[in-house]
Amino acid sequence: MRTEITKEELDIQRRWMAETAERSAALPAKPLAFVDTYGCQQNEADSEKLRGMLREMGYGFTETEAEADVIVLNTCAIREHAEMRILGNVGALTHTKKAKPGQIICLCGCMVQRPGMAEKIKRSYPIVDIVFGPHAVWRFPELLSRRLQQKKRLFATEPSEGAVAEGLPEYRQDGPKAWLSIMYGCNNFCSYCIVPYVRGRERSREAKYVLEDARKLALAGYKDITLLGQNVNSYGKDLEGPDFADLLRMVCDVPGDFLVRFMTSHPKDAGERLFRAMAESEKAARHIHLPFQAGSNRILAAMNRRYTREEYLAKVALARSYMPDVVLTSDVIVGFPGETEEDFADTLSLVEKVGFDSLFTFEYSRRPGTPAAEMENQIPKAEAQKRFDALTALQNRISGEKHAAYVGTTQKVLVDGFTGDERGPLNARTNGGRLVHLMGDKSLLGQYVEVEITDSTTWSLYGKLKEGGNQGA
Ligand code: SAH
Ligand code: SF4
Ligand code: F3S
Repeated sequence: MRTEITKEELDIQRRWMAETAERSAALPAKPLAFVDTYGCQQNEADSEKLRGMLREMGYGFTETEAEADVIVLNTCAIREHAEMRILGNVGALTHTKKAKPGQIICLCGCMVQRPGMAEKIKRSYPIVDIVFGPHAVWRFPELLSRRLQQKKRLFATEPSEGAVAEGLPEYRQDGPKAWLSIMYGCNNFCSYCIVPYVRGRERSREAKYVLEDARKLALAGYKDITLLGQNVNSYGKDLEGPDFADLLRMVCDVPGDFLVRFMTSHPKDAGERLFRAMAESEKAARHIHLPFQAGSNRILAAMNRRYTREEYLAKVALARSYMPDVVLTSDVIVGFPGETEEDFADTLSLVEKVGFDSLFTFEYSRRPGTPAAEMENQIPKAEAQKRFDALTALQNRISGEKHAAYVGTTQKVLVDGFTGDERGPLNARTNGGRLVHLMGDKSLLGQYVEVEITDSTTWSLYGKLKEGGNQGA
């Protein structure tokens, strides 16, 4: 059941925001907030909403915990390592809070929605004032306001299938790139994955809201828009309206000079309609992130991925038949319970066969509450590490070769960052999303430029601005 948060409920939150804004205005100095985000782009997008609400409540922003009146840690639960790091950082806030006793510490996001986690925080982390899961982001104004009025700790982590809240304020990250959520949650229940348990069921935003946001972003001058969902190919199944392929075409039809990407598409649902829509839309970036997770059919079945190795390879071939130059990236897990040497060899051979431009390799992490956590034959850490290293070495070779093939070509790239790197202080991205380091002035930030690729490494490209290659803002 898809639930939309009503206008009345959101109006109540707006009243809480107005009340806190008045309180902030009466303070001798503007109160400051520190927002830190862990995990994936979905969390980044939620943090933009949290910042938007904080800004409306009269808060400024700081990068220093010690200065902050409100600290928000937006957490991730995807792997145990991520959680350990977050809990370590929460522990370290004990000192900050001691030095600034009125400080309000909020923990939100996927980790706190995991069964048992709220209790653990209640018991072991008394410095945390407000805890709320991904389903309660829209209720942040109320939670913060209540905490400002009374000393009681607040928890909003009750189980939920999730809802859709439209019209929350947003404060986007700097730069020419924007996230645009098109759906929330996941129904796939891959046997290793915690996401469906913490993010609820799949629910799509109505196309009219997505398009309204896309138009606003284009008008504001954003040059690179990423449509977000755990499985974007499920978009619209819960609504009467366009499916993902049509939505992509509609977003690409919005006037403006920008590229459209999407994350993530599940191989079981990606297909001809999508590849054709991409190929026929000039603004669709020639990049597909298509996580395969494992190369062996036995492991794919145990993971509940619902495609075979052969089907995956056929989809890659189909995508390439529509877009010969498409950049392919992927996620893979090594050391899934029961993964034999032979299964792992299948992963290596799939990687070799496809020739991904880059690969995100993860060691399997046991997530309590998921079916895989109960499976026999959990792989010892040392073995998983060995496989991780072997796969990384193979992919590094392939990425190196793929990058080397760019040398001598001309690419239109979007300058999206500035680093201190002497060999190329400007960071830019090709249409397919490959990283290019460039010499050049900060004033090129946010612009498309033509560059000649002069050198490459395993991880990135080096480029030189072409004469007259500045295409303007
Ligand atoms: N919805 C996306 C993935 C989101 S999570 C998809 O299905 O493609 C991002 C990646 O984290 C996954 O693709 C997977 O490779 C990895 N991952 C998820 N759960 C994991 C676990 N328990 N251990 C190790 N890696 C995991
Ligand atoms: Fe997790 Fe699978 Fe859903 Fe991706 S599709 S979020 S890996 S359950
Ligand atoms: Fe982490 Fe939640 Fe994303 S678990 S990877 S932040 S959906």
